Amino acid sequence: MRQVAPPRTYRVKSFGCQMNVYDGERMGELLAERGLSVAPEGEDADLVVLNTCHIREKAAEKVYSDIGRLRREDGSSPLIAVAGCVAQAEGDEIMARAPSVSMVVGPQAYHRLPEMLDRATKGERATDTDMPADAKFAALPPRGKGGRRSGPTAFLTVQEGCDKFCTYCVVPYTRGAEISRPYADLIDEAARLVDAGAREITLLGQNVNAWTGEDSKGRALGLDGLIRELAKLPDLQRIRYTTSHPNDMTEGLIAAHGEVGKLMPYLHLPVQAGSDRVLKAMNRSHTVESYLKVLERVRTARPDIALSGDFIVGFPGETEAEFAETLSLIDAVGYAAAFSFKYSPRPGTPAATMEGQVAMEVMDDRLQRLQAALSRDSLAFNRASVGKTCDILVERKGRHPGQWIGKSPWLQSVHFEGESRFGEIVTVDLAEAGPNSLAGRLVERAPA
Ligand code: 5AD
Ligand code: SF4
Repeated sequence: MRQVAPPRTYRVKSFGCQMNVYDGERMGELLAERGLSVAPEGEDADLVVLNTCHIREKAAEKVYSDIGRLRREDGSSPLIAVAGCVAQAEGDEIMARAPSVSMVVGPQAYHRLPEMLDRATKGERATDTDMPADAKFAALPPRGKGGRRSGPTAFLTVQEGCDKFCTYCVVPYTRGAEISRPYADLIDEAARLVDAGAREITLLGQNVNAWTGEDSKGRALGLDGLIRELAKLPDLQRIRYTTSHPNDMTEGLIAAHGEVGKLMPYLHLPVQAGSDRVLKAMNRSHTVESYLKVLERVRTARPDIALSGDFIVGFPGETEAEFAETLSLIDAVGYAAAFSFKYSPRPGTPAATMEGQVAMEVMDDRLQRLQAALSRDSLAFNRASVGKTCDILVERKGRHPGQWIGKSPWLQSVHFEGESRFGEIVTVDLAEAGPNSLAGRLVERAPA
């Protein structure tokens, strides 16, 4: 590769989960510290970071087409870094197949992006997919450094990696073993985000409710302890967390839903399937009954909680009768929101080589029926909110002049018209409901 001028502008494109969004922001902050600025909308960037996801589908193929699309009319390309989970899983292949890529950096190594960039400008290509346990966070610049502002809602990674080894999932291989970030670092990062303008923080982890730590006196804490402490930040209005495993819903965390007013009444608790045989083959280590028991306890603590889940249809060996059990589970729970996917064999995972892989047409049909049931329920949930008065955290402007969009405590998108500003909490009457959003009427603005 040839030597190139040091880049002045960058663009980070993040795919996949919210943790990738968080990582993308942190990479942006590292580059900003190096003096790079975000490329203006519609203009080519000197450096493009493709922050990839490997969870489903032909994610790697998508990366190659994205790389191809970065080629400019004169045949040149920007500096390209491939980051994220495809980089971790397939870094060497990317380097071999895509000569325009000069950096490949895994999710646990991106704090070294600036050094890799120095090498790339000298014409050297570099791959870094090391998995040091927690070196990354210590090496990143503090949030809000140099006066950088945060939007009204921010993500905060508190836990990373997974030791659960569900048989369909690549995460234990791409993100590594479970680690919890230290308590003091998290309190510090949250305070900085709030100082920079955040009013809502979503705590992130692949198994966020497996987070453990110690307070300054050496007392053991779970996620609920961290949430209770964060709730003391005066300007922080809302706390959320995702994604949780049913087996890590501790008594303390369930109780926090009833006791901490800033903890929003929303729980994303994936179940994946409604058949105990399938759950066992998935190595989920919970049953339908134990999952429903958890939900019952959470609902007792916080009766108005909105529930959300993840579902996979067509796991190897899934029969029509087993799929019907998933539909029954959905009927029993009444989810406010959900994410559903066709099973996608991931290289290196046990399920990829299991017998009984389900035909694509069958998966298509099941997914359609599942999604019909889920959207019926989310519409019912939204309709049941009509007539309520609730607080909306204003996040952005809507399409029409004078229109604003924000979120209800139950994570519903609500649009309304009137005077407002980003990051304020307004009181709105919920007037009309669709499957994906609600229309509201502004009642009151909190004093500025
Ligand atoms: N195929 C389909 N869906 C998957 N998920 C994870 N791995 C796979 C896979 N191999 C889904 C699960 C998980 C969500 C993040 O993605 O539902 O909860
Ligand atoms: Fe995708 Fe999982 Fe990686 Fe997130 S952690 S980017 S969902 S593979």
